[in-house]
Amino acid sequence: MEPSLSAPTLQQYVLRSVRERMYKMHGRNPSKEVQSQVLDLIALLNSITLAVKKVGKQIRQVGLPRPRDELDSLNEYANQTWVEELLYSQKSCVLVSEDLAEPVIVQAEMQGTYAVVFDPLTGLADPPAPDMGSIFGIFHQMGTGTPCVTDVLQPASNLIGAGYCLYSSCTTLMFSVGDGLHQFTLDSAMNEFILTRSNVKMPFHGTTYSVNEGYSAQYDAETREVIQNMKTEPALNGVQRTCRYIGSMVADCHRIIMKGGLYAYPARTDLPNGKCKLLYEAGPMAWLVAQAGGHATTGRNPIIDICPDNIHARVPVFLGSADEVAICTGIYTKNAWGNLNTDPMSALRRKRSIGEKSAALKKGVKTDEDEDDGIICFHLGVLAS
Ligand code: F6P
Repeated sequence: MEPSLSAPTLQQYVLRSVRERMYKMHGRNPSKEVQSQVLDLIALLNSITLAVKKVGKQIRQVGLPRPRDELDSLNEYANQTWVEELLYSQKSCVLVSEDLAEPVIVQAEMQGTYAVVFDPLTGLADPPAPDMGSIFGIFHQMGTGTPCVTDVLQPASNLIGAGYCLYSSCTTLMFSVGDGLHQFTLDSAMNEFILTRSNVKMPFHGTTYSVNEGYSAQYDAETREVIQNMKTEPALNGVQRTCRYIGSMVADCHRIIMKGGLYAYPARTDLPNGKCKLLYEAGPMAWLVAQAGGHATTGRNPIIDICPDNIHARVPVFLGSADEVAICTGIYTKNAWGNLNTDPMSALRRKRSIGEKSAALKKGVKTDEDEDDGIICFHLGVLAS
């Protein structure tokens, strides 16, 4: 009989998950090289979680709100801590931080093979958001030679691991090594991240949208149409959507991941590619959302497929539940799926009263209308499953 085990720590969970996949791919006797890659990844994660713990501790000590210069020192501390811990791990080769203009190329004697990208402290606007966080992504070094910046210029679809954490009343770390999205919570007595929820799945649709509407005059017509749609069209369950915006990407996206809906940081006339950085904000978040069954797009292209042309490149972001993101891409590309005039979901909204629709969704039953439209049946099937 298998012994029953208590919730694993992050490192124990990753070791088990990566080992299982390694056995599937390489059999019970993987090469020494493959085995050492797994151990290297665990060592790298140790350094990342240590950085997260140190930054969380510092935020609690400093307390909020604080004057701007103290917030700047907090940011500097976070950046310095992440860089230092990653160097000490001796498992990284290139580091890219939101707070450093240039990448850090790790010197030969401390080098490993992972390229790590991160925003050490986000949500530090003035005044700071109540839920600040960090975002990070891990790539294999692209080339095999001396590490250089091109080793890190990869689309998020190449990530082998990513996560974000929230420094709130407790420190939460959402993490994936490509096996779904999992939630870990810092147990302060043990000072360890413990698995508190595995395989987090985003709802197929949601009733919250999260965008800074104050910039509406600077958004393009499509973004304004998306916002108008979120305000005037009910969500798929018939409930009117509501707006929630904290102004911290990790906190706003976390709510959308857990509850469903849409997060957007669109392009503006003064920021034609929006504000979110592709390599260490939008890319890892898009990859994590995909792990949870959601989607992320610029409006026209999936974010995880875009290769950054420089380390601080930006992209417009629409990220969230499948249904809300389909509405965005429909508006941007005017395609048959999402165009509000021909989109089957939109047709469904128009044709059926909200009550009938909710009842059908709850039961997962087909109606005569659904028989007419294979896509609608498929859609309901997904929801019912
Ligand atoms: O990109 C940095 C960031 O702090 C995000 O975490 C957040 O979503 C956004 O900026 C807030 O920007 P704004 O104040 O323009 O809405």
